[in-house]
Amino acid sequence: MNKKRIAIVGTGGRALSFTEPVASTYRDFNALVALCDVSPTRMAYHNELLARQWSHPPVPTYAATDFDRMLSDQRPDTIVVCSKDSTHHDYIVRSLRAGCDAITEKPMTIDAEKCQAILDAQRTTGRRVRVAFNYRWGPFRTKVKELISSGAIGRVHSVNLEYLLDTSHGADYFRRWHAHMAESGGLFVHKSTHHFDLVNWWLDAIPAQVFAHGDLVFYGRRNAESRGDGRFATYPRYTGSGQKDDPFALDLDATESFRRLYRDAEKDDGYQRDRNVFRDDIDIFDQMGALVRYRTGESLVYSLVAYSPREGMRVAINGDRGRLEYHEFVGSHMNRAVVSGEFRNEKHGSAEAAGEWIQVYPHFRPSYRVDVPPASGPHGGADHILAEHLFSPNPPADPWNRVAGHEQGAASILTGVAANVSVQSGKPVAIADLVMLAPEAQRLSQLV
Ligand SMILES: NC(=O)c1ccc[n+]([C@@H]2O[C@H](COP(=O)([O-])OP(=O)(O)OC[C@H]3O[C@@H](n4cnc5c(N)ncnc54)[C@H](O)[C@@H]3O)[C@@H](O)[C@H]2O)c1
Repeated sequence: MNKKRIAIVGTGGRALSFTEPVASTYRDFNALVALCDVSPTRMAYHNELLARQWSHPPVPTYAATDFDRMLSDQRPDTIVVCSKDSTHHDYIVRSLRAGCDAITEKPMTIDAEKCQAILDAQRTTGRRVRVAFNYRWGPFRTKVKELISSGAIGRVHSVNLEYLLDTSHGADYFRRWHAHMAESGGLFVHKSTHHFDLVNWWLDAIPAQVFAHGDLVFYGRRNAESRGDGRFATYPRYTGSGQKDDPFALDLDATESFRRLYRDAEKDDGYQRDRNVFRDDIDIFDQMGALVRYRTGESLVYSLVAYSPREGMRVAINGDRGRLEYHEFVGSHMNRAVVSGEFRNEKHGSAEAAGEWIQVYPHFRPSYRVDVPPASGPHGGADHILAEHLFSPNPPADPWNRVAGHEQGAASILTGVAANVSVQSGKPVAIADLVMLAPEAQRLSQLV
């Protein structure tokens, strides 16, 4: 059998979720043929892990400036895009034009112009783009989709979704490139793309109009000083600051992966993974709210806070025959000392599944709890299921249409892009004024 030739661009932490399945579980069907990044040190560490963990031979590495040469040398079938968000569109468009398919990490891209470039390139080349929305593949989220589709609460008219990021996970977005609108689109795009996609998919709805507010009230120097916490803002970065008792400290010497991926790679590109979350140059919001109206009339009330003492999601979905509540709480920052790479795995593993539940409240009948078999692995088991669908030649049937393409990737980011525009203008924003997605389509599933 001809193996699918796969190259990865962007070899930071998240790329490991793709090298692992391609180089181990699905290696009989896929060949990892190249890595591409601005940092030779990060690529060398990926090659070392390939050998150490999966006895995989090293693969050729290419500087970001040699991406096109990588495409012509290695002739990949599929490019996995795991680079910084603001670069996704460029690699997707160049891959499609070279005749490759693309699998991209979320968010598909960060603004309307870049989104349009991807849609245009897809249309003219006919190649395939898939967006790795791992949230959809979590067993509880799939169960919510199943319940709504089966009519358990009738026709859905409104959703409330509150997402809390705690002062460990939430703070992490303020340490590095995510803290700049131009690099991540802010949390309305970078993070909320997961949540807006869930609602689009659960309701099978396309967003039409957004009104939003956003503020920076906790991170950044001014906020620390106005709370009397100015001492936290006195050093530019954490490693080597000696601030072990600082709850926001992140020590790049604490784990092998932090040290090898980031600390040792600083000489390549100056990327500092541990910048002080109370420094001056942060221009994204840490608290935001949006009101979204869908083409088919449903409404969403959405909020995200990135400085909470506890982490998780609370969703209420109201239908004309009842209400469904889905809660997912993963614990509190008080349970752990200093953020570490290992902590992420622990949090997104069994602890997440243990804190999830679904309760259905039918009109005029008793409510009931819906059981979902426990799953393990990163992101509540979602990453393993998604990997099977991306890299197995015979993935199991997908009755819930969890595979997302370019239009669904666009529908999700455009809610956040419109929210950013609305915050600036103080006015509601029509998504069709930013990017026109299939105007005749009423339902998300009608988008290709
Ligand atoms: N689905 C999820 O749950 C999830 C989780 C984490 C990250 N992500 C996404 O994965 C992507 C990577 O995130 P990460 O946490 O690994 O970040 P990271 O900062 O660890 O890695 C980003 C990599 O991109 C590289 N890069 C930067 N500019 C580049 C350019 N011009 N060309 C090529 N490479 C470039 C960096 O050198 C770095 O190796 C992001 O898009 C992020 O949104 C998704």
